[in-house]
Amino acid sequence: MPNILLVGNGAREHAMAEAISRSQHNPRLFSFMKANNPGIASLSEKIKLGGYSDLAAITGFATENKIEFAVIGPEDPLNNGVVDALTACGIPAVGPNKSLARLETSKSFTRNLVNKYHIPGNPQFNVFTSMDGVEAFLNKLEGIVLKPDGLTGGKGVLVQGDHFVTEDEALKLCQQILKESSSLIVEEKFDGEEFSLQCLCDGKTVVATPLVQDHKRRFDGDRGPNTGGMGSYSLPDHSMPFLKPQDVEEGLEITRQVAAALWKETGNPYKGVMYGGFIATKNGAKLLEYNARFGDPEAMNILPLLKTDFVEICRHIIAGTLDQLKIEFEPKATVCKYVVPKGYGLPADHPDAASSRDKIEVGNVGKARLYYSSVDKKEDGLYLSSSRAIGIVGIADNLEEARKIAEAGVKAVKGPVAYREDIGTAALIQKRIDHMKKIRKY
Ligand SMILES: Nc1ncnc2c1ncn2[C@@H]1O[C@H](COP(=O)(O)OP(=O)(O)O)[C@@H](O)[C@H]1O
Ligand SMILES: [Mg+2]
Repeated sequence: MPNILLVGNGAREHAMAEAISRSQHNPRLFSFMKANNPGIASLSEKIKLGGYSDLAAITGFATENKIEFAVIGPEDPLNNGVVDALTACGIPAVGPNKSLARLETSKSFTRNLVNKYHIPGNPQFNVFTSMDGVEAFLNKLEGIVLKPDGLTGGKGVLVQGDHFVTEDEALKLCQQILKESSSLIVEEKFDGEEFSLQCLCDGKTVVATPLVQDHKRRFDGDRGPNTGGMGSYSLPDHSMPFLKPQDVEEGLEITRQVAAALWKETGNPYKGVMYGGFIATKNGAKLLEYNARFGDPEAMNILPLLKTDFVEICRHIIAGTLDQLKIEFEPKATVCKYVVPKGYGLPADHPDAASSRDKIEVGNVGKARLYYSSVDKKEDGLYLSSSRAIGIVGIADNLEEARKIAEAGVKAVKGPVAYREDIGTAALIQKRIDHMKKIRKY
């Protein structure tokens, strides 16, 4: 019976805990969380609460409990060097060390790496540490995207047309970003449709998992402010209806080349999840960014479909033998909808903005799966925090069935909550197909 450490406390980690618990090796789960997730706690032998920068607490908990290996869920502990600390104690981990995690934590590192190793997929871009040259570069671009260098919880990137219009506005925003961040990436804006390709990597072998599409905007119809993610879907063929097979192949090939480049550049193999955020354009797949971990919500789409033993996958990632394992997923559709506090993600002047710490009731979610995120379990029940509360996942043979299951599940959560009704609807997907048709000029 292996003892496994899980670091993280969100719905993504709840789905990971469930995947670990399903293993035929009867693992015992030890969970280190910054807040008590009742779903993870119910699957754990033991939990410990603490901050993700308290590396001594994490390694202490791991050594005390004779952990065989650790799995790291979120980006914060990776950025803090939790894998380096665990490795120093002789405990291997699924998750990159601090240097390799720059794949996510520094967008300039990744853009420069892709250029240095002549890997396709980058936009035209420049990295700035002062305003010198910013204006001239903005002049050269047809559409502009501004990115602070560093972790921003998915809320730092500014896109022309969505967040600002004119070049003057862009210049002011650049000044603002440089005040708060060590550097600024200015890049060419792509037109297309986005897809998430989460890959498993042992350093040399890169294995794709089913494609997922996330929905960042707070409101139906992709309107409103960006959030950590309001929900996501995947299809039985593990692709997306608006993509050509070549788009997917290009995304995978970029990821393979980036994995090889990371090893050369840092001297260490990347062991963990390489989550590529891609955009299909008229010129094929382009790279938006990498995350160094599963997505939240996207983990909830793929992990429940996993037919291969997750503990075995982790062992092969650590041993560098992923090429010897056949990794399979159920050919099913999934729809994940996040139930969030009504005020989640809204600007302060919005009438619903007041952050609620209200009580919620969770009734029978029927055939849906429920993954806890930021809920506070008190003696008298569950309370909302300011973040996303519960991920509800429908799984079925087709998208419409999966959507209905998720929708029914969401309705079982009572309280001052909100969610997106349009995720997984045929109409929304048709919009994406039509958009790609227009771009490709069929
Ligand atoms: N070069 C680009 N062209 C068009 N849209 C972009 C570009 N880069 C980012 N975006 C948009 O901004 C969003 C956030 O950017 P991303 O690089 O994924 O950063 P993060 O997820 O850290 O906020 C993307 O999902 C995409 O919608
Ligand atoms: Mg992103």
